[in-house]
Amino acid sequence: MLNGIYSILLLFVLLIIFGTLAYGALSAAPWVPLRKKDIKRLLDLANLKPGELVYDLGCGDGRLLIAAAKIYGVRAIGFEIALVPYLIAKLKISLLGLNKQVKVLYKDFWQIPLAPADVVVCFLTPYAMKKLEKKIPSELKHGARFVSYVFQLHSMSNKIISKPSPNDAPIYLYT
Ligand SMILES: C[S@@+](CC[C@H](N)C(=O)[O-])C[C@H]1O[C@@H](n2cnc3c(N)ncnc32)[C@H](O)[C@@H]1O
Repeated sequence: MLNGIYSILLLFVLLIIFGTLAYGALSAAPWVPLRKKDIKRLLDLANLKPGELVYDLGCGDGRLLIAAAKIYGVRAIGFEIALVPYLIAKLKISLLGLNKQVKVLYKDFWQIPLAPADVVVCFLTPYAMKKLEKKIPSELKHGARFVSYVFQLHSMSNKIISKPSPNDAPIYLYT
């Protein structure tokens, strides 16, 4: 009897874990963290200033948010829809004592207005970038920057590209 209950509970937990991972993959991108060696290059390109507010659309384990807060003294909010990376990000932020500066919200970023952010960063797929073509120009406030790892927005021409060597991933900055 008890074994049966545990099996159902386990099945339920696995369903939630894999279901939310699958939802994230279908909605905008699977959970594939950006390379650690590229974090500083991406954040440098964004030209962050202390006190600014950074959004990460699909923040995974929170690595960009944490680095941005620690190195540049910004406030950072990440949105994540898959349960496992969301919980890992929450744990890392708590263990590092960054709860006041960095927040991770279990939310679908397509439903989030981007106007409060000074800088929006993302690492998503080409199909998500296509959808962002409308959201970014219509929601970003004047003076805000948008930085995308690997994939670009084709409709916006005012971009700076960082690709120090042919082996490096491109990073795009839009102002
Ligand atoms: C390629 S990963 C990038 C993770 C992180 N930004 C990084 O650079 O390491 C994309 C993340 O977006 C999340 N995601 C996909 N669709 C989402 C949505 N609609 N709302 C919030 N998060 C989403 C996925 O679960 C995944 O963790």
